[in-house]
Amino acid sequence: MERTALITGAGRGIGAVTAQELARRGFRAIVNYRTDTAAAASVVERIEAAGGTARAVRADVRDPGEVDKLVGACPRVDALICNANISPPFAPLAELSWADFAGKITGELAAVFHVTQRVLTLMRKQRGGQIVYVSSISAGLARPGAIAHGTAKAALDSFARHVAAEAGAWGIAVNVVAPGAVRTEGSAAMRTPEVERSLARRSVLGRMVDPEDVAAVIGAVVDGGFGAVTGAHIPVDAGAQLIPG
Ligand SMILES: NC(=O)c1ccc[n+]([C@@H]2O[C@H](COP(=O)([O-])OP(=O)(O)OC[C@H]3O[C@@H](n4cnc5c(N)ncnc54)[C@H](OP(=O)(O)O)[C@@H]3O)[C@@H](O)[C@H]2O)c1
Repeated sequence: MERTALITGAGRGIGAVTAQELARRGFRAIVNYRTDTAAAASVVERIEAAGGTARAVRADVRDPGEVDKLVGACPRVDALICNANISPPFAPLAELSWADFAGKITGELAAVFHVTQRVLTLMRKQRGGQIVYVSSISAGLARPGAIAHGTAKAALDSFARHVAAEAGAWGIAVNVVAPGAVRTEGSAAMRTPEVERSLARRSVLGRMVDPEDVAAVIGAVVDGGFGAVTGAHIPVDAGAQLIPG
């Protein structure tokens, strides 16, 4: 039976390239998106042009009813990649409203809670599966203005470890891939050429991270024969965390 990968937030950025990578590895890709139907259709077209199988399914993954329909559209799920970008407000605590802060925290967790719960039921029946959460190195850092993003991703990391602990008995592996700054539309507003040069200088490898770098790691985690790896937290940041400042 054809293996199926459900990738949330796959209309562009890391999710789109991950869907292409998993299709290249032989998965049927379910390309989830929220608003941009044309972008998701173009991801499906690219996958089909390369000989793969894909289908775009619109759903706001924060909404349990929409997630029911999304998971209902999947014949099975062998790999779930929770990637949807819940845009954070970037502001220091003094300037943040509770509504904006809470919106990011609850949005980040709702976007993984409902889809994980429903997919775990399927994977349990299938007797196995792989889940990857796309977090961020921001979870372990503390930068002024990133309090909502960092706190939300730290909560996601903890959620992932608990899912790993509960799902292991059913043969389900659960891991976190944590990018540093990646060149995507989601980060475009913050990436002037000067910021890019400074980020590259502050990384051990002297470079920025591209969506392909993150997709390659996700592909290896779910399809690289890493049968004994669960509960892992894998930074994809060109070594940016090794250099302070
Ligand atoms: N880019 C970075 O520098 C960076 C660094 C560290 C971690 N990350 C993490 O990597 C992930 C992907 O980031 P990205 O930069 O690739 O994002 P992006 O370019 O902004 O793309 C976001 C994708 O998520 C979809 N999406 C947003 N809200 C959704 C929702 N509620 N339900 C379903 N889909 C939704 C969007 O769909 P529509 O366009 O159709 O609305 C879009 O396809 C995020 O979890 C982000 O936190 C990114």
